[in-house]
Order: sequence, then C-alpha cells, then structure tokens
Amino acid sequence: MSDQACPYDLCDGTGFRVDESTRTAYECRCRPIVVARAQTSSLSSVIPKRYRGMSFDRPPVSGMPPTVVRPVRRFCERIDENLDGGRGLSLFGTVGTGKTTLAMIVAQAALDARRSVAIYSLPRLLAEIRTTYEEGSEHSHVDLLDRLSAVDLLHVDDVGAERTSPWVLEQLYALVNARYEAERSMVITTNILDPDKLREQIGPRTVSRLSEMCEPIPLTGTDHRLEPEARLPPPRAGTAGEARGGLA
Ligand SMILES: Nc1ncnc2c1ncn2[C@@H]1O[C@H](COP(=O)(O)OP(=O)(O)O)[C@@H](O)[C@H]1O
Ligand SMILES: [Mg+2]
Repeated sequence: MSDQACPYDLCDGTGFRVDESTRTAYECRCRPIVVARAQTSSLSSVIPKRYRGMSFDRPPVSGMPPTVVRPVRRFCERIDENLDGGRGLSLFGTVGTGKTTLAMIVAQAALDARRSVAIYSLPRLLAEIRTTYEEGSEHSHVDLLDRLSAVDLLHVDDVGAERTSPWVLEQLYALVNARYEAERSMVITTNILDPDKLREQIGPRTVSRLSEMCEPIPLTGTDHRLEPEARLPPPRAGTAGEARGGLA
C-alpha cells in the first residue's frame, strides 16, 4: 500500500496493478506520477500559510488589476498544457504588489492538478544547495539538482534578492539551464524591474533562458503590506504597463 491514492482509482497507489489470472504485475496509468512524486518527495512543496486558500474570486486577488490577473488565470486554466510545454511566468514589480500571491496561486493550481511542485525563495534554495556540500549531507549536490530539474513546476521566489557571488550565479545558472534543457516550467518573482539590472544581478545567460521560458507579467502599485485596509479592497481598475520589462 502507498500513503497516496491512485489518482485514477485503478491501483493501490503503488503505481502497479496485478493481473490476478496470470499473477503478473503491470504498470498502472498513474506510474509516471508515482515516479515523479518519489523523485521530488524531499523538495518543499508546501504553500506557506499566508498564501493558502487564495482564489481569483476573493481579495486580495479579485482587487488586483485585471491586466495582471488575466494572464495568470489563463495560465492556471491550462495548467497541464503549460507545464507539459515547459511554459512559465515571471512576475516582476516592486515589493508588496502581489507577486508571491499570484505565483502561489499558480503553484496551488499545479498541486490541484496533481503535478509535482517545488516552492522556494531563492535564498532558501541556495541555502539548501549549500548544505549538500556539507559533510554527511543526506543528498548529494547532483541528486538535489536532479530532483529540482525533475519537478513539474519550480516556483522560485525573490530572484535577485541574494547578494551576488560567482558561486550563487553558477548554482542558479546550473538549475535554470537544467530546466531549460528539459523544457520544464518555472514561475519566478523578482523585485528587479530593469532587465539590465537583472542581468547584472543574476547573469545574462540565466536571464536569457528565463526570458524564453517565462511570460513576463509586470505588477505595479504601492506596497500593499503598508496599507492593511487595501487587503480587502473593492475591485479597482488599474494598469500594469509602466514597468520596463522584467526579463525582456
Ligand atoms: N493588489 C493588492 N490588493 C490588496 N492587497 C494586496 C495586493 N497585492 C498584494 N496584497 C497583499 O499585500 C501583501 C503582500 O503581497 P505579496 O504577494 O507577498 O507581495 P510581493 O510578493 O509582491 O512582495 C499580502 O498580504 C497580500 O495579500
Ligand atoms: Mg514576494
């Protein structure tokens, strides 16, 4: 028995079915899901408490500019197709404009579609990679990279927040390049609006790959963390066209 049910209700969750007449085991339709789950089981796939239960129909998302929400909603409506096609999103804007909220909605849509998801802030992801170099580490560096490359959706929050060092740039490049080559989807958020600044911060090779993988979605506005009343706003119109272009 497995602790996870078969999504198709065909096997006991192990990914194998048994033909009783011949007493032979054969692969269930859910086997690829079981394998992906096992490969990525040690990764963080928990939506942080603050962002749980978010919905397009409720504040704060229902109050965000439609120009921002529409492409995210469209992406979620075709989540399987987008993940299979290796397509992702890059949400960029100043602090408190709702980037992480929208990225978490995408992660939730992928989890709801029973896809494997890993959710990390970039500083935390790099810290995790760093621990693989420590003596007695549970996972090797290659093993962690393999897992991060195999997951259906990798959400990396706060790209560019980490102080740049050649080591950081190389780790990030290795990961983004592995996902780029495997045509795996990424959703990223960043506070860096200026593409040149982003290239300077995380490296041109990484930015180039991310721009091909991720549709840019600019978010503008004030820091909603500073306006508690703005968390339950009536829907308001707004535009998102002022920022200069994220990964473009
Ligand atoms: N457009 C908005 N209207 C109202 N509240 C918002 C809006 N965008 C974000 N918030 C709220 O502001 C806080 C910060 O949102 P978050 O998504 O973490 O921002 P970012 O990742 O851009 O810094 C959260 O409490 C969120 O619910
Ligand atoms: Mg954020």
